[in-house]
Amino acid sequence: MDWNDGYVADLDYPAAYFAEQSPCHLSIACILNGVEPVPTDRPFTYFELGAGMGLTSNILAASHPHGRFYSNDFNPAHVAAARQLADEAQLENMTVLESSFADLAAGKVDLPPLDYITMYGIYSWITPANRQYLVEFIGRYLKPGGIVYVNYNALPGWTRTLPLQRLLLEHANCNPVPRVAQLEQARELARKLSEAGAAFFDGSKQLDYRMASLARDKAGYLAHEYLNSGWEPLYHADVAGNLAAAGLDFVGSADLPLAFEGDYLTAQQQALLAGIAEPRWRETMRDYLLNTSFREDVYVRGARSMGEERRAGWLARLGMVLTSVVETVPAPDPAADDDSVALREILDALATGPKTLAELARLRCVSLQAIARLAARLAAADKIAFFFLGSEAVDPAPAMRLNRAIAAQSTLGDHYQALASPRLGGGLHSGLAQRLVYQCMAQAAPDAKPDAHDVSRRVASLLQGHFATCIPGSPAEAALHQLREGLPHTVAAILAYRLPIWRTLCML
Ligand SMILES: C[S@@+](CC[C@H](N)C(=O)[O-])C[C@H]1O[C@@H](n2cnc3c(N)ncnc32)[C@H](O)[C@@H]1O
Repeated sequence: MDWNDGYVADLDYPAAYFAEQSPCHLSIACILNGVEPVPTDRPFTYFELGAGMGLTSNILAASHPHGRFYSNDFNPAHVAAARQLADEAQLENMTVLESSFADLAAGKVDLPPLDYITMYGIYSWITPANRQYLVEFIGRYLKPGGIVYVNYNALPGWTRTLPLQRLLLEHANCNPVPRVAQLEQARELARKLSEAGAAFFDGSKQLDYRMASLARDKAGYLAHEYLNSGWEPLYHADVAGNLAAAGLDFVGSADLPLAFEGDYLTAQQQALLAGIAEPRWRETMRDYLLNTSFREDVYVRGARSMGEERRAGWLARLGMVLTSVVETVPAPDPAADDDSVALREILDALATGPKTLAELARLRCVSLQAIARLAARLAAADKIAFFFLGSEAVDPAPAMRLNRAIAAQSTLGDHYQALASPRLGGGLHSGLAQRLVYQCMAQAAPDAKPDAHDVSRRVASLLQGHFATCIPGSPAEAALHQLREGLPHTVAAILAYRLPIWRTLCML
């Protein structure tokens, strides 16, 4: 086997930020699922396995200056990009390692005991031997009470679409041309098969979803998603069984609304699950009920269940803040159900500034747990975010340095599509126009009142360089033209609505 163990190494994976990997998000997932979390307001250690271009771990390190962060990847191009971003932002608490999972499992790197270990897009995309290295690594370094986040392609939800991956992989194996051309041909092949009436392409929802991704997504993403030799969707029972060897107990999903079964399972389905005592089997049954194709599991080494009082104590340490622009809406529809009215009231309350969960519970005259359920729904819809009270005191300087580095990069390309917030203990997805406005604002005096016309003119000039890197006639070029045409309106909206959010979240 080569150094890359059959894993795609000739095309870089696009940079991305994943909020689920934030220490705060994972501790909140534990709280919502009734398990003792790791406190994030004191020094802690964090490791991201297979970090790719390192956007997530750099944002997390910048927004938790009191945490010590490590990441690894065996692809030197990925490591170099992650280090460059960390260096530009002078993140002294970030160490990017060029090492394989085998090296880490064998203890070849000097590491402290870890509070958090996360991996995004790794576990079901690598060989079984590499999965075993990850289990050994976790067993070796994770502290008792430490948290693991792992996501994976799951069964039974992938059953219908498995042959599409095989088609792409076989095609790649038989056509040893450069990767981008290979994917272009594979796209074409799948389309032609479908148009020729191949019975496999039966218009099922799952298959249509994958075909749309195949037509739309970048070659870098598609290669890493489909063309690794170890690629294999997994049953939760098998993943939880393997991780048990490292002392891990399943806690729940990083998809926060899944902690509230009543919202997505019928009474009959809940009764069915309630009758199953064995957690691994229960969770696997849930996947049959939902036909799950992607899982985001949270585990703790030695999970300790919390009683109601203890859990309420943790919920009382949480706040909520708007992360998106809330449209002005007419008076509540009398026919709207209780939840819609409550969600609206929460958003309206947050429009006047961040609130504690306790304040919102008092406003609605309900329990903290009831508010947490609604908040989880709003957070999953990217309308609001949870934060730990006291996070406004976190030193914002590293996050601001990283945001400036990302904004400066955005004048050259569109790779890093998120900015860091120390208040959230994580990042916020931010489009190109937002990052270019950030670049202009970062260069202005802190108390200067921005002039929308002037900022729009400067953003237009920064955007100009992007046209030079676009293929003429490509969808990317069309998107740039569209952005440029609507720029005065977009910039005015960013200054009016996004700038206050950046300030509240200590991002600027
Ligand atoms: C799909 S990418 C995900 C990157 C990043 N986690 C993200 O989601 O943006 C998987 C990453 O794992 C790395 N990787 C795969 N196998 C590895 C191994 N055996 N040792 C170290 N890194 C590995 C790849 O180089 C790649 O950067």
